[in-house]
Amino acid sequence: MTTKRTSRTAAKPVPGLRPHVLVLHGPNLNLLGSREPNHYGLATLDDINRALVSRGDSAGAQVETFQHNHEGDLIDCVHQAARDHVDFIVINPAGFTHTSVALRDALAATAIPFVEVHLSNIYARESFRHHSYFSDLAVGVVSGLGAHGYELALEYALRHLQNRTPHGSQKTEKAH
Ligand code: DQA
Repeated sequence: MTTKRTSRTAAKPVPGLRPHVLVLHGPNLNLLGSREPNHYGLATLDDINRALVSRGDSAGAQVETFQHNHEGDLIDCVHQAARDHVDFIVINPAGFTHTSVALRDALAATAIPFVEVHLSNIYARESFRHHSYFSDLAVGVVSGLGAHGYELALEYALRHLQNRTPHGSQKTEKAH
């Protein structure tokens, strides 16, 4: 079970404006690379996380990653994110997408903006996967683009956070 939370420090942080992004992975995603590659591809969780942390570094952002198989640990991580002033969350709730009111409530409680990511296209699969407890709260949803979906979600987060003013409010931005 992968429970590590990793981060790296950007070379030249901008005081007060250095974006802090948390990437959260739900249950069974520690098995990526060998788990149903027809649905989830061949990239391992480490491959995905390394690419995201490295992209964060090059953008001057702090990207942390966390995977857990237990609902309560993911909820605790969301609570901790609020205490740590995380600016944005990229989350693949995995199986909890379709079951977890509690993890949804944690995200609602913290009000940290988030993008929901799925490696597979959940709408092209079994009907029980068509409902998500997260999508209506999410800024957006990326589903079916494999590991690339995480990168797109992170790009969105970085762009969104670059538009912050020094006081943390958002500049008004046209639809993208
Ligand atoms: C998933 C889709 C979910 O339905 C499934 O339970 C997962 C992974 C995805 O990334 O495609 O574990 O979130």
